[in-house]
Amino acid sequence: MNPTIIDFKPLGDDRGHLVAVESGNSIPFDIQRVYYIYETAEGVDRGFHAHKALNQVAVAISGSCDMVLDDGKDKVTVPLNSPTEGVLIGPGMWRVMSNFSKDCVLLVFADAHYDESDYIRDYDAF
Ligand code: TYD
Repeated sequence: MNPTIIDFKPLGDDRGHLVAVESGNSIPFDIQRVYYIYETAEGVDRGFHAHKALNQVAVAISGSCDMVLDDGKDKVTVPLNSPTEGVLIGPGMWRVMSNFSKDCVLLVFADAHYDESDYIRDYDAF
C-alpha cells in the first residue's frame, strides 16, 4: 500500500511561512468540514476506525504524530511532522494516530459533514 502524500506549496518569505489550501486544487475534493486535534494527552492513541465513504487529508501543522494506515492487507506508518505535508485517507482505511508530540496540532480536511453512520468502529467488521 502506497499512501498518497500531498505536498502543499510553501508560500513563505523572509517574514515567515504561509500555506494556502484550496478545495479541488491542493486538496483533491470539495472540503465540507475541517477539524483539528490538539493537546492530546501523553501516550494516547486515537482513531481506531475506518470510514465507508469519507475522504480526508490530515496535516500536522504543529509538532508531529504518526498516522498508521491499514487497508486490511498492509499496514503503513506515515510520520506527519511538517505543515507542508498531508496524507490522503480514503474510504476503507483503518487509521490509528499515535506518538503525538505535546505541541501537535493535527488539522484534518474532510469531504463530508460529521456522520456517525459512515464510521466502521469494529475492526472485525472492517
Ligand atoms: P472521535 O471520532 O472519537 O475522534 P478520533 O477518531 O479522532 O479519535 O471523535 C471524538 C468526538 O467528537 C466524538 O464524540 C465524535 C465527535 N466529532 C464530531 O462531533 N465531529 C467531528 O467532525 C469529529 C471528527 C468528531
